[in-house]
Amino acid sequence: MQAASLKPQPVHQIQIWVRNKLIPQPLPLFLILMSLQQYTSSAVLVIGCLTAAYAATKVYFKKSDKLGPPLSDTRFKLNYVGHVDRIYDKFGPKPFEFNRDVVKVFDDMVSRSVPLYEEVIDLLLYWVHRYYVPGTKIYDLGCSTGTTFDVIARSMEDSCHLVGIDNSIAMVEECRKKLEWAESKNHIVDIHSGDILDLAIDNASFVIMNYTLQFIPVASRHQVLSKIFKGLQDGGVVFISEKVRSSNSEFQEACTWIYEDFKERRGYTKTYIARKKDALMNVLVPFTEEELRGALTAVGFENVEIAVKWNNFSTFVARKSGQRRVGKKEVQVATPHLDSFFESCPTYLSDYLDPLQLQVLCLERLRCFTNKSGLSQSNLLDFEDIARCLSELPSFKSKAVKVDEAALTIGDPSELTIDQHAAWLSIATRMKPWKKGPLNVFGVEIDTEWRSDLKWGRMVPYLPPLKDKVICDLGCGNGYFMYRMLSHDPKLVVGIDPNVHAWMEFKIFQRFAQDDRLRFEFMRGDAMTMFTGMFDVVFCLGVLYHTNDPVGMLRDIYTSMTKGSTLIVDCQGIPGDEAIALFPKKKYANMKGVYFLPTATTLMHWLSRAQFQQMELFFSEPLTSEEQRITKWAPVTTSLGESLDPNDATKTVEGYPAPHRFYIRAKRG
Ligand SMILES: C[S@@+](CC[C@H](N)C(=O)[O-])C[C@H]1O[C@@H](n2cnc3c(N)ncnc32)[C@H](O)[C@@H]1O
Repeated sequence: MQAASLKPQPVHQIQIWVRNKLIPQPLPLFLILMSLQQYTSSAVLVIGCLTAAYAATKVYFKKSDKLGPPLSDTRFKLNYVGHVDRIYDKFGPKPFEFNRDVVKVFDDMVSRSVPLYEEVIDLLLYWVHRYYVPGTKIYDLGCSTGTTFDVIARSMEDSCHLVGIDNSIAMVEECRKKLEWAESKNHIVDIHSGDILDLAIDNASFVIMNYTLQFIPVASRHQVLSKIFKGLQDGGVVFISEKVRSSNSEFQEACTWIYEDFKERRGYTKTYIARKKDALMNVLVPFTEEELRGALTAVGFENVEIAVKWNNFSTFVARKSGQRRVGKKEVQVATPHLDSFFESCPTYLSDYLDPLQLQVLCLERLRCFTNKSGLSQSNLLDFEDIARCLSELPSFKSKAVKVDEAALTIGDPSELTIDQHAAWLSIATRMKPWKKGPLNVFGVEIDTEWRSDLKWGRMVPYLPPLKDKVICDLGCGNGYFMYRMLSHDPKLVVGIDPNVHAWMEFKIFQRFAQDDRLRFEFMRGDAMTMFTGMFDVVFCLGVLYHTNDPVGMLRDIYTSMTKGSTLIVDCQGIPGDEAIALFPKKKYANMKGVYFLPTATTLMHWLSRAQFQQMELFFSEPLTSEEQRITKWAPVTTSLGESLDPNDATKTVEGYPAPHRFYIRAKRG
């Protein structure tokens, strides 16, 4: 059934149907002749009709001849060499490799098995001509027989410098042969035989890597992409084409079925297709599009776009930002003590994510941590010194950990020596302002800016069962709620937050609580898509109004959840029933980084747009200074009290409606 529906459409029929609308029809001519019937014999009539039909056909063909060439025509004919690919009609290399026999048929193989191969190269020429900077180099990593360089060189009016590399000696020989002519036209052509990982990339304005990254071991891909990024000058572009896999297994099956049919239509037999597929197993390991995009952004590319997509083949272009980073972000200082608290390999995730997903996640979390939220040099040095002091304190599992009282208690003063206690007090003082609590750490009672215990108390009656569940606290701050969740005996709680201060506080707690069920991932909210289908319960507390794409964030959260799981949202907003959101010009209640403040109605709408169901609003009250205020341990210049209009507490100092808090419980279907 399926195969029959795939029969190619007879193209000429479609064209006739289209063009019949454009040209004189034989039918009106026939009617005119019929009206003249009384003056003619029937023989003359038949001849007349045939002539008219013939004339109309002539008109049709004449017209259709004027239409342009077929759309798939590219501007340059590619210079293919070698023989027809029948390698796997017999027994080709298994596992697959680019050996001499394969190289002999490679041009035919690649052009018949890669969909849109010629169109992609045609498109590549546009990108090269737009972004290549004379005097710099163009690289082709995995250049094979040099077809791409050959056409680039032909398209260039002036000489250019082409650097290719391939680790198949037979490919390199073929490539050098194909490009001999280019050297005689004053192009500089360097074709290296070797591994991409060993190639020095420098002074590049354009790097091509078509259908090659997929052959590089996953563990080395970050290094390759990072090398490309570093070797590109500012504003340079990488052009990467790959076979990709779908993140949805059903679609992956569909894509494979479509692709195999495509190959049959290109003249490959079922046996050939099956044998080659078998040989490529574990040799060609495709990323998903998300993984490739993630890997590109992880090494620093800022504009990452898909330029071509056909089923399970995608071409990405990505650019190294031409804008030099100025100010805070440019500063890089060594922070070895701080870095020693970063867990570089989150092995606990291997129980939940497949190896490829984990690989990409590791790259992304490393990138986020390396950036350290763009902290200034002085801030970084401060944290570095606090980390140094902390590492001088012993690490042990305290017997005094209490998670079921308002104040999260970790450590008893008797567990530290006097000197150690003094050192801890000094750390605690330097860590001001403390935001989420209350806390009691080794007897130091830390009254934090936020009474997070009040929020926890409101949520408890509405929590789904947390016992043995895998939970995420997105925007976890210092992890106060994560510890409170422990009293419900969860299996795992992953906190996600890109704030160095909060991360540091969590590291302090964990140095003495040492509870393996709690994990902190130093990442941003968009990382949720990397935890596909992992969480039974997600908390998203006080986060949505800090993103300029709240619905996008909710969708990402949805992706991370299991079927039937629960989301608990707490969001700052404005009172009223209208389906609106406030968008402050700059600051809201003295806070920067606040975007949309929804009414409860709008918050519900966001949730349902993100596919959530069974929404229940279980708390809706104005925020009070009982819950958020300046304290000795949080000597911030402004808290809620200082951010409301002194003459009208229903307004913020900027004149906006005063903050309201909404809590909602929702289900993923
Ligand atoms: C599918 S072919 C690429 C085709 C070519 N880029 C094109 O668009 O026609 C992959 C090429 O990458 C080369 N290759 C694979 N891994 C490599 C590595 N680590 N270093 C250098 N070349 C590699 C292979 O020898 C092969 O020629």
